[in-house]
Amino acid sequence: MLNNKKSPPNPKQSKILSPKNGLDNFRLGFGMTSKCTRIYIRTFGCQMNVRDSEFVSGLLIDNGFRLSGSIEEADVILFNSCSVRKHAEDRLFSNITYLKKLKKKRPGLIIGLMGCTAQAYKGEAITRSPVIDIVCGTGNEADLPRLIKYARRKKLRIIATDKVDAKRPELYPEYREHEFKALVSIGEGCDNFCSYCIVPYVRGRERSRDAKDIIREVKSLAGRGFKEITLLGQNVNSYKTGGDRDFIKLLGAVNKIDGIERIRFMTSHPKDAHTELFIAMRDLQKVCEHLHLPLQAGSDRILKLMNRKYTAKKYLKLVESYKKILPSGSITTDVIVGFPSETDSDFKRTCDIMKDIGFDSAYTFKYSLRLKTASSKLTDDVSAKTKAERLDIIMKIQRGISEGRNMKLVSKSVEALVEDVNKKDVTLMSGRTRTNKQVIFKGDKSLVGTLVDVEVQSVTPYSLKGRMV
Ligand code: SAH
Ligand code: SF4
Ligand code: F3S
Repeated sequence: MLNNKKSPPNPKQSKILSPKNGLDNFRLGFGMTSKCTRIYIRTFGCQMNVRDSEFVSGLLIDNGFRLSGSIEEADVILFNSCSVRKHAEDRLFSNITYLKKLKKKRPGLIIGLMGCTAQAYKGEAITRSPVIDIVCGTGNEADLPRLIKYARRKKLRIIATDKVDAKRPELYPEYREHEFKALVSIGEGCDNFCSYCIVPYVRGRERSRDAKDIIREVKSLAGRGFKEITLLGQNVNSYKTGGDRDFIKLLGAVNKIDGIERIRFMTSHPKDAHTELFIAMRDLQKVCEHLHLPLQAGSDRILKLMNRKYTAKKYLKLVESYKKILPSGSITTDVIVGFPSETDSDFKRTCDIMKDIGFDSAYTFKYSLRLKTASSKLTDDVSAKTKAERLDIIMKIQRGISEGRNMKLVSKSVEALVEDVNKKDVTLMSGRTRTNKQVIFKGDKSLVGTLVDVEVQSVTPYSLKGRMV
């Protein structure tokens, strides 16, 4: 959809972007790329967005743009946005509105909104924040170099949100943010429609990437010295390319790639995780012993209202099987408190199951009503105060459990992939265990990207501290 900048934007009167109205015929030709165009990208949300920002950065670099580390100096500012909770959206729009001043100083500045909020709001994003020049939906991101050129050259506002179900072209920009660990998308979208969740609406239907393309990408990463890869999807266990147990086959194929030392994956939905997956995790040497298995709630009544398609009993059985097959593996989860109609006794079930299982860590959230979702039709009747109290209780419980789980590692040796110099003390290094725990130990910068063994000496709920052995 195109809008003339001279008149105030009125998304409702705008045309929807399509090949017919010219934009798809707009190609980047000689003289159209500008090495001086500096792009600043700010990323909100989950790992998918982190990977998408990286993908878009690579694409822009390949098309002659330059990345800028400074928002003040950039010619184009892109916000890659998250809509999973209202708080995330509010923060985003207040950040964009803040740019009004910058735009007044530099009228040529282009501000673009990409990602899930762009897809959710479409043209309404400009109504909410008139400084926005480009709204680029999740399926339109491969077009961003063209959209930016078009907006700059024709001085037009653009809304491109028509490809939510599009399969991403296998463009493979080389650019990666890290030198030794990489995110690899294995699919897009989600068909689960958990009643509280906006993701299926903003990421479209589930589509799996071809295994041969994934393998080619990982082989190329291995050739460039990458050691750890994380296979990404909203629901990795439902990865499907026409056969049976396709995700396990994919893990097996990636496990054979020379040079890769660690394989991670996320996220697993309990309805699709199974014993064969845990056996594969045990038997495939490079696959790390960490499972992220969102529980969301412990009460069957709430789980049903959430459309999660499992009961607490089924979840417990699954975890029992995981622990039996991978006794030293770690398990983490996501939990929502204050879902509509959640009573004290529903909440107690969540607390009880968390104590029973003893997760290594948990992301805990207050329920946030999202438009369009099925649960938005239920009254959001748990008060803000009760939600805050329940969150506080659950976080306290989890802190104790996490510390207890970490205590079991004291005096043991763990393998760490060294990631970075500690921000507060440069004599300390920070790495991750195969079970995805942070380890801090004395060392120097030359260790970054290598695997070392560390003997654990003390712990907090969030990390292990030790010395290299
Ligand atoms: N596909 C992944 C990620 C979903 S979003 C998965 O299924 O795990 C990450 C987490 O955000 C979810 O697991 C859920 O705990 C939380 N979440 C999603 N929608 C929410 C909402 N409306 N309110 C509060 N938390 C929400
Ligand atoms: Fe959202 Fe559920 Fe899909 Fe996860 S599985 S993205 S929580 S709908
Ligand atoms: Fe991720 Fe947020 Fe979108 S959690 S999929 S960036 S809504």
